Amino acid sequence: MKILICFGTRPEAIKMAPICLALAKEKIAFKLCVTAQHREMLDQVLTFFGIIPDYDLDIMQPNQSLNKLSSKILLKMDGIFEKENFDMVLVHGDTTTSSLVALSAFHRKIKVSHVEAGLRTYNKLSPFPEELNRQITGRIADFHFAPTVKAKQNLLKEQVNETKIIVTGNTVIDALLIAKDKLDSGFNNVFIDDLKQKIDFKKKIVLITGHRRESFGEGFENLCDAVLEIAKRDDVEIVYPVHLNPNVKSVVNTRLFGVKNIHLLEPLNYPSFVWLMSKSNLIISDSGGIQEEAPTFKIPVIVTRDITERAEGIKEGCSFLVGTNTSSIINKADDLLNTSDPLKGVINPYGKGDASKLIVDFLQSVDV
Ligand code: UD1
Ligand code: UDP
Repeated sequence: MKILICFGTRPEAIKMAPICLALAKEKIAFKLCVTAQHREMLDQVLTFFGIIPDYDLDIMQPNQSLNKLSSKILLKMDGIFEKENFDMVLVHGDTTTSSLVALSAFHRKIKVSHVEAGLRTYNKLSPFPEELNRQITGRIADFHFAPTVKAKQNLLKEQVNETKIIVTGNTVIDALLIAKDKLDSGFNNVFIDDLKQKIDFKKKIVLITGHRRESFGEGFENLCDAVLEIAKRDDVEIVYPVHLNPNVKSVVNTRLFGVKNIHLLEPLNYPSFVWLMSKSNLIISDSGGIQEEAPTFKIPVIVTRDITERAEGIKEGCSFLVGTNTSSIINKADDLLNTSDPLKGVINPYGKGDASKLIVDFLQSVDV
């Protein structure tokens, strides 16, 4: 079977890297195509995992519209499918890359496997455009690697044939354990050294990230107001690697600049971010991947969204859905910062680190 793996953004790269490594370990040939919907944020992940793409579509442009992005993916993927015959394309999650690559493969009658399948909010505007992206990919996919039983149930409700759904856990945990093992064995870099210099780790570390399109404008302004208020506590250091999306950067860098205990950083490379996460007491984020990773380090996550497809973490008491209301964020942050060991005894509901092996086992067994 001739396999193409395709992804384009930072989180997809982190979550697909373990599959690339597992395929290579089993000496199963595959080709890798990156759309490069992200550029710097993607490349640092490829470097860390030592992965070299066969095709790089290089489509990122500052602040380009979703339609422009989508049309470039369709057109450039077609060029690849003209050059080489593939039997199966693996895509990930809910980005524009995943749904448009899936569509381009479908147009060529190539089988599609969807990694991180079955996540749903059933609100097509939240997260936007991700909810519809993952539903589109779900309709197209021939095989669905669901990270949790809940994700499988969503797919069953949508009449997906049960034999086509494989519950694997989330490959983000595989990636996290790879990074954690390297850090535990002494991996270091200048960014980690820089964090050690800049930040007072004797204080409580509050780590912030955010990038959701539905929060552009008012949502991010409210978040900044909350961060300014939390920073008034003299027992905290706030660390905020700011996403490169211009709609995020402009608000955050203007509103939060110049406060002594707020450290605004460029996005961190993956191992540095994992290191920082492991040193944190609280995370405030709208990120999907971070909701899945943080329970491994027993760090609570305040989720600055109105709705989440990652309900497992909320149910386990690992993450807390508060929306983007300023006082709700402040109150929950105070509450969690004043509680010692708030995640004592919880088990990460998103996987145990063997998802990529289960996916590769399946790919070895399937006849397409
Ligand atoms: C994208 C995904 C989102 C995913 C997120 C992870 C879509 C529509 N959005 O959102 O699902 O959760 O990535 O981070 O698929 N930029 C850079 N350098 C980079 C990356 C981004 O400069 O390495 C800037 C560019 O101006 C780019 C803009 O950010 O045009 C937006 O990038 P885009 O991929 O469209 O959306 P994200 O907000 O990053
Ligand atoms: N991450 C990173 N550097 C950062 C912030 C996040 O490497 O500065 C990693 C994080 O560990 C997680 C992933 O990026 O694995 C999450 O990406 P993002 O929040 O951009 O996207 P989402 O998961 O919401 O799609």
